[in-house]
Amino acid sequence: MNYSTMSPSQLKEEYEELNKEYELVLSKGLKLDMSRGKPCKAQLDLTNDMLNSLSDSSDCFSQNGTDYRNYGIMDGIPEAKQLFAPMLNVSEDELIVFGNSSLNIMYDTIIKSMQFGVLGSTPWSKLDKVKFICPVPGYDRHFAICEAMGIEMINVKMNQDGPDMDAVEKLVSEDESIKGIWCVPKYSNPDGITYSDQVVKRMANLKPKANDFRIFWDNAYVVHDFTNPDTLMDIFAELKKNNKQDMIYMFASTSKISFPGSGVAVMAASENNISAIKKMMFFQTISHDKLNQMRHVKFFKNFDGILEHMKKHAEIIMPKFDIVCNTLEKELGPCNIAKWKKPNGGYFVSLFLPDNCAKRTAELCKKAGVVLTGAGATFPYGKDPHDNNLRISPTFPPNHELQEAMNVLCLCSKIAALEQAMK
Ligand SMILES: Cc1ncc(COP(=O)(O)O)c(C=O)c1O
Repeated sequence: MNYSTMSPSQLKEEYEELNKEYELVLSKGLKLDMSRGKPCKAQLDLTNDMLNSLSDSSDCFSQNGTDYRNYGIMDGIPEAKQLFAPMLNVSEDELIVFGNSSLNIMYDTIIKSMQFGVLGSTPWSKLDKVKFICPVPGYDRHFAICEAMGIEMINVKMNQDGPDMDAVEKLVSEDESIKGIWCVPKYSNPDGITYSDQVVKRMANLKPKANDFRIFWDNAYVVHDFTNPDTLMDIFAELKKNNKQDMIYMFASTSKISFPGSGVAVMAASENNISAIKKMMFFQTISHDKLNQMRHVKFFKNFDGILEHMKKHAEIIMPKFDIVCNTLEKELGPCNIAKWKKPNGGYFVSLFLPDNCAKRTAELCKKAGVVLTGAGATFPYGKDPHDNNLRISPTFPPNHELQEAMNVLCLCSKIAALEQAMK
């Protein structure tokens, strides 16, 4: 079964066998979706009581009588700051509570840097070139923001413990047009990797040529642990030790804690950065949705409440990750054609196939009715230089559908790998 040791005639025989299986799959007319990292219905149901957490107008007042039904408190209600500050391990003064989406804040932060500059620097839009470092594979929507803004993206390899820091250090120290790096430091999208202490320390000690360089620390999966969680070193504390705390913007949201699209998003940064951001926000909004912030406060009560809630999410989604990884192990393990890592939390499994097999696999899956995140999506400009990475999103489909989709994915991966091997 090990494709690398099979003779040409054995490969051909296996290929014909698998194609017969594929014809059978085609005849089933499947319609399965593993394309996006969305919570499943059972996960959403965990938060249903939040819908009733503001049952009466009296629930809409602060302890000192501020009426949250009205305008004001642009940077978030104090109760929400108390709830979310421990999530990013910052003080309440280092946090802004926004609206429903952290991606929106990231987009907006870049737009502001383009238009107004960063702590007095030249606005990025006035520069000939602006570049961002993109650890790959990574989150497609980070890359889409850069592409939309005309920011040039530089790929840096993700190692097993985070981005290749030799490359990152060299790039930022030599090139003043590099203004940022995208990081998903815990259970990265898509690899499920948590940055090691060594990587965090080196990241916190970068010496960028550009003084308006920022680390975009998207901690989207900060509390999305399974039973054996990873720990992520506190980069902000490290930056403070190095007196470089202005070098980072941190983001998180409750999209995959409460309701995606109807959650609460936060940004944390140094007091210098927070004060500059608030000045710019003044022209933008009078307040975010404070009633939704209050709903979250009433429902979770405190940070421990969030952690308890996440255990219930883990109970629902861990079996889905088992289905994915057990099927990969059983179907692809013996063929010796694929690599993946079973994550200890987060939302994704990243599958590495032989070179030139990802697009073909996704195409075969699509024809068989199984939709995956597009091949290439995990790389800037949608260009996977080796065409070998696919992102698996196990959370949304019901378990029996997930199992069926994984069987199809493995079958298609094997067919694509055999086609390459026989070339
Ligand atoms: C790394 C990462 N950041 C941000 C988001 C989106 O977050 P939000 O819903 O808060 O905009 C996602 C969603 O998949 C994500 O994977």
